[in-house]
Amino acid sequence: MVNKKPGYLEKFPRCAPGLLFVLFMLLLSIACAKGDKTTPEAVTTIVFKHGKIAGDTTLFNKLIKQFEAEHPQIAVKEETLPASTDEQHQYYVTNLAGGAADFDVLSLDVIWVQEFARAGWLKDISPLLPLAERGEFFPGPMRAVTYKDKIYAVPWYIDAGLLYYRRDLLQKYGFTPPKTWAELVRAATTITSLEPGIYGFIWQGKQYEGLVCNALEYMWGHGGEVIKDGQAVIYSPQNVAALQFMRDLIKKQRISPELVTTAIEEPTRHIFGQGKALFMRNWPYAWNIFQQADSPIRGRVGVSALPAFSEHTSASTLGGWQLGINKYSKHPRIAGKLIKFLTSPATQKEMALAIGYKPTRMKLYRDADLLREQPLLSLLYDVFLQARPRPLSAHYMQITQVLQPEISAVLADLKSPDEALKSAQQQIYKILGPGK
Ligand code: GLC
Repeated sequence: MVNKKPGYLEKFPRCAPGLLFVLFMLLLSIACAKGDKTTPEAVTTIVFKHGKIAGDTTLFNKLIKQFEAEHPQIAVKEETLPASTDEQHQYYVTNLAGGAADFDVLSLDVIWVQEFARAGWLKDISPLLPLAERGEFFPGPMRAVTYKDKIYAVPWYIDAGLLYYRRDLLQKYGFTPPKTWAELVRAATTITSLEPGIYGFIWQGKQYEGLVCNALEYMWGHGGEVIKDGQAVIYSPQNVAALQFMRDLIKKQRISPELVTTAIEEPTRHIFGQGKALFMRNWPYAWNIFQQADSPIRGRVGVSALPAFSEHTSASTLGGWQLGINKYSKHPRIAGKLIKFLTSPATQKEMALAIGYKPTRMKLYRDADLLREQPLLSLLYDVFLQARPRPLSAHYMQITQVLQPEISAVLADLKSPDEALKSAQQQIYKILGPGK
């Protein structure tokens, strides 16, 4: 009898073939991953911080995936901040002042770049935007991203205040879209008296940056200014009349409900979008949302430049967002690639079509596909060219922090326009000093 020694395989447990298979699959998947993204270690993750995207975010996520597919060694982690610009500013000031390096690319409101560049929180990214390319962008945002002849961010999308109106209701009562504020008041007074449940005119009146954007449109619209030749000039009869007009919309004509004094962009967009207001002041992004298949006001909305006061031209505040690189980023080169991608003509076009964020590159306003989809762009081109920037100053945040409570006090009837502007004048004078 031959005493057979148990062989190697026989010593193996019964499940051995299964284990081998699992091992094989594991090795195979590592090999595949290698082919895809080299080694997993070679993938660098960068963090991109930006405010909440309005409406459907599917397309935006798709764009980020497209960038990752084009750059297999890069992964992008998106981190969303609240929609309000003031809250975003607060976040950045706290974190950048503390030297935070945990985000690489940040989206910057047009009013912050000067302040952040002066504070040394942004990388100089002049090489990312060669001189020849700079002329392709709207001049307003281009000036905003330039600090002491260097570029600190690339304009991403542009904003300006617009008037949205219910075309169907205006037609029903024999009105044409208003060219002047007096016409708007007349149409709103008549139509709200005949259409129960409809607000006349809604806008952003909460104590925050958007209120300043709204108020400036009335001040400039009256020929007023905030700063001239480096001096505070806000206390003027034109600006008193402007604030009086805003307050009267709520308290006297009563075409704007009290709720505007606590409203930012999105609540007003929702109210108008549900068919509950005749007129709305808002930025261009709202248009795309109103055109969607499930929009109750689809096909019944018009949009135009803001009305003008008699003897003056219409004034619209320039807004918009830019992409910059955190000075403390450990991956500035990769961060630059993401910025190039997101601000490229192709991406800006996609974003305009799908999200309604308007391109900062002027030539896209002559793009046949875009114009076919959004004829509105030809009107917007002129509005963006003429839109007025808020004072371009590294001290802007201090100035707006004076303006916000003063204007808000007028809307709440706590101060007269005269008192509020006199007080604002004194405080801004202190910030700027004589002719700073
Ligand atoms: C929009 C504008 C921005 C402005 C803000 C005010 O986001 O693009 O420039 O400061 O609204 O709420």
